[in-house]
Parts: sequence; structure tokens; C-alpha cells
Amino acid sequence: MTPTDLAPLVSASAVGVRYGSTQILHGIDLDIAASSHVALTGRSGSGKTTLLLVLAGLLAPSEGSVAWPGLAVDPTERRGQIGMVFQAPSLMPELTALQNVTLPLRLRGTDRQYTEAAALLALGHVAAADLADALPPQLSGGQQQRVAIARALAGGHRLVLADEPTGALDRAHAHVAALALRDGVAATGGALVLATHDPELAELFDQQLAVADGSIRHSVRS
Ligand SMILES: Nc1ncnc2c1ncn2[C@@H]1O[C@H](COP(=O)(O)OP(=O)(O)OP(=O)(O)O)[C@@H](O)[C@H]1O
Ligand SMILES: [Mg+2]
Repeated sequence: MTPTDLAPLVSASAVGVRYGSTQILHGIDLDIAASSHVALTGRSGSGKTTLLLVLAGLLAPSEGSVAWPGLAVDPTERRGQIGMVFQAPSLMPELTALQNVTLPLRLRGTDRQYTEAAALLALGHVAAADLADALPPQLSGGQQQRVAIARALAGGHRLVLADEPTGALDRAHAHVAALALRDGVAATGGALVLATHDPELAELFDQQLAVADGSIRHSVRS
């Protein structure tokens, strides 16, 4: 094991985010270790999406710093190691569900046969194998969410940041999809941070963080 294996996949230090003059987050210190799964809760507007975007490197903090000591130093390689399930629909409308799921792997030059097998497996894990040939505009919001989850699962990412990925799903599908993400990411030693409004779903994770008043409170499952 090398020091990089033990290093947190993402580390936020005294992170603050301001939109204009409004302070959304402040003083956030957070390490996400490899093989961990973390639920992020908090009221609507509390800053969950903002925090996930910072952890993904998609939004620069206004104060403090964020680093990825356990991921690649090269920014392009690192971007491929981080998977994001966005809160808003994010599938490419002109590609089938299967093509959407294979896209991140294809862009990284992975062999076509492998990517299709991995994508079909991932779609199966979220009960969406039968949607493989559908175009996103033909799918319901919840079906699109499941395809987006499959895309994150198939991508072989080290760090997956999932922003209310099950918000449009019924409870049974939500739990199946969240567990598939949790266990799929854990199987490769990766880490998952998943924002949710569902306390029962949050209970399935080994660590729970609540965003409130711009900072985070930790609680670990007993
Ligand atoms: N691009 C932006 N410009 C200005 N303000 C923003 C922007 N994005 C978010 N905000 C504000 O920042 C705050 C936190 O928003 P954020 O989307 O992070 O909350 P959230 O916890 O994810 O909410 P929800 O549960 O509804 O998704 C809100 O008050 C929101 O209005
Ligand atoms: Mg949000």
C-alpha cells in the first residue's frame, strides 16, 4: 500500500462559498476517505449541491482550498476519476440510454466491447436493462435518473458525487439504486458522497453529514 492509497480522495480545508455577497458555506473541513460512503443531508437551499460541486472541482471555493491527494495529479486524468450524478437531468438527448452510459468510458478510450458489457451490467443494477435502447426524451424523470446512476456506476470512478440521484424515484427503486451505487463504488475501493432528503436512505450509509447554517455536522452510524 502506498501513501496515496491511504490519502483522502478529496480534502476540503476551511472552505467557504459566496454567491455575490451571500455566504452559502463557511469553514468546511472535510476528508473523504477511500472505501467510504457518506450521506449528505440538509434542508433545501442549505448548500448540498454547492458542496458537491466544490468536492468535484467544478466550483472554486471563495475561501479555503480543496485538494484530491488520493487521486491523480494530472487534472484531466483526475476529472475521469470523479463521477458526478447531477441533480438536474444530464443525459445526452440524442444518444440512447446505453450510449449515454458508455460515453464516459468511450471518451477515455476504453474498448467498445468492454464498455457495452459494463454499461448493460450497470443498467441491470438499477433495474433499467430494458431501457438500453430508449432515448432520454422517451423516458420518465425517474427512468432518466436510473440511467444517470448507471452511467456513474459503469464509469469506474474513484470518487462518485451523487446529487439527490433518487429524488424522482419511488422508495423501492430509490433504495435499490442507492445501494447499487454504494456497493458498486465500494467494490472498487472508491468513495461515494450522496445527497438525499430521505433519512431512511441516509441510514444506509456509514457516515452522515448534515449541512446546516453553512457548515456541516458529522454523525457516524453506530
Ligand atoms: N449559481 C448560483 N448563484 C446564486 N446563488 C446560488 C447559486 N446556486 C445556488 N445558489 C444559492 O445557494 C444556496 C444553496 O444552494 P444549493 O443548490 O447548494 O442547495 P441544496 O442544499 O442543494 O438545495 P436542494 O435540496 O433544494 O437541492 C441557495 O440559497 C441557492 O439559492
Ligand atoms: Mg441541491
